[in-house]
Amino acid sequence: MDNRNVRPEDMERITTPALAKAFIEDQIEYIKEQVGDKKVLLALSGGVDSSVVAAMLIKAIGDQLVCVHVNHGLLRKGEPEQVIKVFREELGANLIYVDAVDRFLDKLAGVTDPEEKRHIIGSEFIEVFAEEARKLDGIEFLAQGTIWPDILESEAGIKAHHNAGGLPEDLKFELVEPVRILFKDEVRIVGKELGLPDNMVYRQPFPGPGLGVRCPGAITRDRLEAVRESDAILREEFAKNGLEGKVWQYFTVVPDFKSTGVTDGKRTFNWPCIIRAINTTDVMEVTVEHLPAELIDHLVSRITTEVAGINRVLIDYTPKPPATVEYE
Ligand code: XMP
Repeated sequence: MDNRNVRPEDMERITTPALAKAFIEDQIEYIKEQVGDKKVLLALSGGVDSSVVAAMLIKAIGDQLVCVHVNHGLLRKGEPEQVIKVFREELGANLIYVDAVDRFLDKLAGVTDPEEKRHIIGSEFIEVFAEEARKLDGIEFLAQGTIWPDILESEAGIKAHHNAGGLPEDLKFELVEPVRILFKDEVRIVGKELGLPDNMVYRQPFPGPGLGVRCPGAITRDRLEAVRESDAILREEFAKNGLEGKVWQYFTVVPDFKSTGVTDGKRTFNWPCIIRAINTTDVMEVTVEHLPAELIDHLVSRITTEVAGINRVLIDYTPKPPATVEYE
């Protein structure tokens, strides 16, 4: 095993642009050696790890990298557009964009069980990605955004490492894992050095099943849209008020029940929108961020007037434990 697969015990923590630059140069040389003139496939979600892997591989092997971005309809507002803008337009990536929104939402229609929803989203994702892979000729490698904590956790038996993304038997590729020996903070510094935008590199965590777990119960397109729009308002206001990058994770949830309200003297019967803003270091225990009262008032006003279907805003003040971060 090459020592690039295992983090050397004496490896200096990457904390500066100079250290990131040296790491990138070393990895690029290694990737070129490993891949030669063959093609590499990458599922590019727009998350930190896959984005940094894409940027690194574009630098190393250019259009021998084929990126596939699957839009499952559960992404945040503006995310698919940003992936296309940054990777296809600015970095010149060979990017296949798959609009699978209807496919996912049709499969999820009427499904209320949280675990079943997660399972459908995960397995449908692999199926869509495998279909795209089969259309391509000459792919020999699969790039993955595996990072060092994934390896440590899978060794400790905490979490199965999603090796090769669970692709079917006929699609067995050799792995390319250029950030495998890095910790998350190092991946961000490397990403910044590769020229990725701050809002991609310093993104808050976002679950694989996306907004699906923030639209509890059976997902409907209108309620999902209310989650997406309220999340966009929350992110905008956190950025404007200097909370972006300070609060660890913040999002909205639109539960599947309605309550009575009144607008312009007329009765309404609409959903509430729940705001959740939390801080943590290890995600095992989480505390709640206490937002300034003025900001809360402003959020209530914006969300109830700008988001269709919302007539109430609630704030979730529950730490973990007893609550988890996400609702499903
Ligand atoms: P919970 O809800 O378990 O969330 O307290 C802890 C952290 O993990 C994130 N999360 C996920 N991340 N895939 C992910 O990549 C998932 O399925 C998933 N579920 C939860 C959650 O956003 C929080 O930061």
